[in-house]
Amino acid sequence: MWLARPLFEDITGRLDEYFDVKRTSPAGDTYAPAEIAEHLRDVDGALVTLVERIGANEIAHAARLRAIANVAVGYNNLDIAALDARGIVTTNTPDVLTETTADLGFALLMAAARRITESERWLREGQWTKWSFDTLLGRDLHGSTLGILGMGRIGQGIARRAIGFGMRTLYHNRSRLPEAVEEEVKAAYVGFDELLARADHLVLVLPYSPQTHHVIDAAALAKMQPTATLVNIARGGLVDELALADALAHGRLAAAGLDVFEGEPAVRPELLALRNVVLTPHIGSASLATRRAMVALAVDNLVAALGFGPHAGRPPNMVTQR
Ligand code: GLV
Repeated sequence: MWLARPLFEDITGRLDEYFDVKRTSPAGDTYAPAEIAEHLRDVDGALVTLVERIGANEIAHAARLRAIANVAVGYNNLDIAALDARGIVTTNTPDVLTETTADLGFALLMAAARRITESERWLREGQWTKWSFDTLLGRDLHGSTLGILGMGRIGQGIARRAIGFGMRTLYHNRSRLPEAVEEEVKAAYVGFDELLARADHLVLVLPYSPQTHHVIDAAALAKMQPTATLVNIARGGLVDELALADALAHGRLAAAGLDVFEGEPAVRPELLALRNVVLTPHIGSASLATRRAMVALAVDNLVAALGFGPHAGRPPNMVTQR
């Protein structure tokens, strides 16, 4: 099997008990598509991260390939239809990263709403020459209305945190949650436009797909309150970043916190130029404990998908149909 990057050798070492493991690293930051195709050509399985893009072309000559374990909950780097068509079992790493990612969502929300990074930059620039009453006034979390777009596990984790902050939570999702879950996380279902209009703070936690591409575009931003904060911890492609930068620059949105970017690791100069946006380099699940748990789960999934271990033939986290 192919291990596409060095990942916690004490955990991935378990793969050697079952497989002949080909360990590689990209020469630059990422593999070219042809390199991925070449690495997949002669293996039964692969353990990859979200920057390895695998579609029909990459698997065209991978006659033996039977399983791919993605070390991420999102899997828009993988063409699931193409993998399914070939019967390649594909897995992700949900659950283990839910709370860590919800924490980061809240951290970005607080940082953006209370202007934390902007304040720090201002201080470090030596601009704090006197205390004044109206310096860097932000917006409250407590007592405000939180909007959550995408109410899966991470969205629910954010909603649970919002209870402690005394926020009202509204959400929109492809399907409405069972009433008992709504009650537990204290969140009320509303339509998309109502969510945009009523949220003081809006957090995006929905999967990225062609259907959700630029779900937050200029028209959606125009429906939001000019005092609102937008946080994206899901995928950059959900947001039209130029429209967002324009709204932030012209007072049509107060602040944003972004952990993900459409062209990452490149970040648009229009965003970098703004003070009212907090930018982090896709660190949603990046605590040591969680990143280790994700790798361990991906190893379990791959071992099981290839017919070994306690879950042989039944990998815990399949995202393909068969
Ligand atoms: C990270 O972005 C993930 O999908 O796990």
